[in-house]
Amino acid sequence: MNSTRRRITKAVVPVAGLGTRFLPATKATPKEMLPVVDKPAIQYVVEEAVTAGMSDILMVTGRNKRPLEDHFDRNYELEETLARKGDQDKLARVCAPTELATAVHYVRQGDPKGLGHAVLCAAPHVGSEPFAVLLGDDLIDPRDPLLTRMAEVQARYGGSVVALMEVDPGQIHLYGCAAVRPAGDGDTVRVTDLVEKPAPGEAPSNYAVIGRYVLDPEIFEVLRRTEPGRGGEIQLTDALRALAVRADAGPVHGVVFSGRRYDTGDRLGFLQATVRLACEREDLGPEFRSWLGEFVSRDVLVPVG
Ligand code: UTP
Repeated sequence: MNSTRRRITKAVVPVAGLGTRFLPATKATPKEMLPVVDKPAIQYVVEEAVTAGMSDILMVTGRNKRPLEDHFDRNYELEETLARKGDQDKLARVCAPTELATAVHYVRQGDPKGLGHAVLCAAPHVGSEPFAVLLGDDLIDPRDPLLTRMAEVQARYGGSVVALMEVDPGQIHLYGCAAVRPAGDGDTVRVTDLVEKPAPGEAPSNYAVIGRYVLDPEIFEVLRRTEPGRGGEIQLTDALRALAVRADAGPVHGVVFSGRRYDTGDRLGFLQATVRLACEREDLGPEFRSWLGEFVSRDVLVPVG
């Protein structure tokens, strides 16, 4: 069977990064375990993969990441206690992460040598099928099904697909950046080149690569030959660039996302995600919104003193 046309069932979630933007919180706790309202960020990401039909999850982990494994495992003591009390609501919340995916697998990256290296660690598990990569840092609102759309684009064109978002020109140096040309569909572009965190004035566009990918397994061969790039790390962007500019490789397309996305690996993005999702929650929202409205008008907008 042509490897580029299979239904995608495997999702790789690299979580071996050090999370230095969140120190000291991330000294002993993985940043992916920080709660956005009352669920760790990683659970939103796994839910997103499962919703898109990818229920075979591989997490690429590292030292200090044990809480992630515990979160998706059973906790019999807690389950029994809640069952004895008849607290079905909390019991359901404890069991939800365990029952979410068909299987959650783990592989250790060892040294965090970069996102490209983390993805390469998934090669034995993924084999020769196209697969998704979801970064735990990026929270995509469940009402905006980006990954499902990316899988459709991959099924149509083959090759690899990246998620792109138009950002302010002053922000593009923080992202991988794509040079693109139209591809026919309204939200889809052909990626002709990529550059990781371009210097000011050197970005080929305002299209930033965000943390969702659907990759052809040919990426592994390229990653094996990719030298450390920006920051001395093996960059996934560099390997994707090699594919995008090669005539004999599958194409690289971009899906331009205009939905709601939060950068939960960054303190400001994390706060924005927490406030927004809390406001929209049925249980907490009404009380929180009313407090927030008062707080903003009384304590934030009115100058102190
Ligand atoms: P980041 O560079 O945003 O994550 O990597 P980080 O290194 O954890 O964060 P800061 O900058 O120090 O705060 C993007 C994603 O790639 C993973 C990270 O876990 C994150 O999900 N990653 C990065 C790895 O799994 N391994 C690596 O070697 C590097």
